[in-house]
Amino acid sequence: MNLIDIFHVMKAYGSFQAVNDVSFSVKKGEVFSLLGPNGAGKTTLIEILEGVRKKDSGDVKVLGCDPWQNTDSLHRRVGVIPQHFTFVDKSTPREAMKYYAKIFGARVDTDRILKEVLLEDSANVLFENLSGGQKQKMGLALSLVNSPDILFLDEPTTGLDPNARRAVWDVIRKFKTSGKTIILTTHYLEEAEHLSDRVAIMDHGRIIAIGTSDEIIASFGSGERLDVHGGEDLAKYLKEKTKLKITYDRTGFISISLDQKHDAYIALAAIEESGLPWSNFQIKKDSLEDVFVKLVGGFLEEHGEVKKVKEEDD
Ligand SMILES: Nc1ncnc2c1ncn2[C@@H]1O[C@H](COP(=O)(O)OP(=O)(O)O)[C@@H](O)[C@H]1O
Ligand SMILES: [Mg+2]
Repeated sequence: MNLIDIFHVMKAYGSFQAVNDVSFSVKKGEVFSLLGPNGAGKTTLIEILEGVRKKDSGDVKVLGCDPWQNTDSLHRRVGVIPQHFTFVDKSTPREAMKYYAKIFGARVDTDRILKEVLLEDSANVLFENLSGGQKQKMGLALSLVNSPDILFLDEPTTGLDPNARRAVWDVIRKFKTSGKTIILTTHYLEEAEHLSDRVAIMDHGRIIAIGTSDEIIASFGSGERLDVHGGEDLAKYLKEKTKLKITYDRTGFISISLDQKHDAYIALAAIEESGLPWSNFQIKKDSLEDVFVKLVGGFLEEHGEVKKVKEEDD
């Protein structure tokens, strides 16, 4: 059962196309991540799903309704942490939850939720005195007040230190176990890989890859290869002997593509036969990060900017 269906959604700011022909569905109980650099269009898209931004064209269904037309009823059934979530400085998590419960007309078991988001010990601490991680957990607590079917978490761990980030991951994993459907945006590859059932890689407003990490790696990665340190003479020998696809870079690194398991045996046998020096062989496979670099043309830095990899000279 799909809780979210979007077809060919477009959104421009003036002449700038922020979301460009995006389509996908999210099933009940899934954790779905929009992964992409700053400016990719993640927040714009998630806010269209939340009913707080209007799309230009396309179709959007969230819990069976159009978020822009049915905003009030939708807001009773979804939980949201906006990007850069913040709250009244002089309010405590417990007070904030009561306040939200009043707005939603919901009855809320604050102790249960505080426990669920691992914030029991700071229930009565002023917002301004909470750590970055605790503030995000308070956001998670607030998103649960109306017992939502779907949670929209826009960069829930940006700016947190690794420990705080992991603590937030623990909470998100608990949500998943309890059957919640979660749409998460992030520019942390590790986060997307670690938490999600499926990932959509977004860049310049478009979805450029979608699926489980394994599916994306299988579609866009280079498959298994055997890497070995050796000289150009060894690379040449292997090329002639094995007929396998072999690349050699001048730092002394030979990479042999393995289309089938048996190729590994052929490669190793030929290396041994050559009598040439070699060391350090490893079987490798592209990671989601390797695929990301290929698709987006650069690494994602800590703050979400893309650091371009050097253009190939060809
Ligand atoms: N209200 C707006 N008006 C004009 N441009 C905007 C507005 N909101 C976002 N943008 C631009 O649209 C692009 C996508 O932004 P956003 O959806 O926030 O991306 P992300 O969340 O992936 O960083 C960015 O270039 C941003 O500057
Ligand atoms: Mg954003």
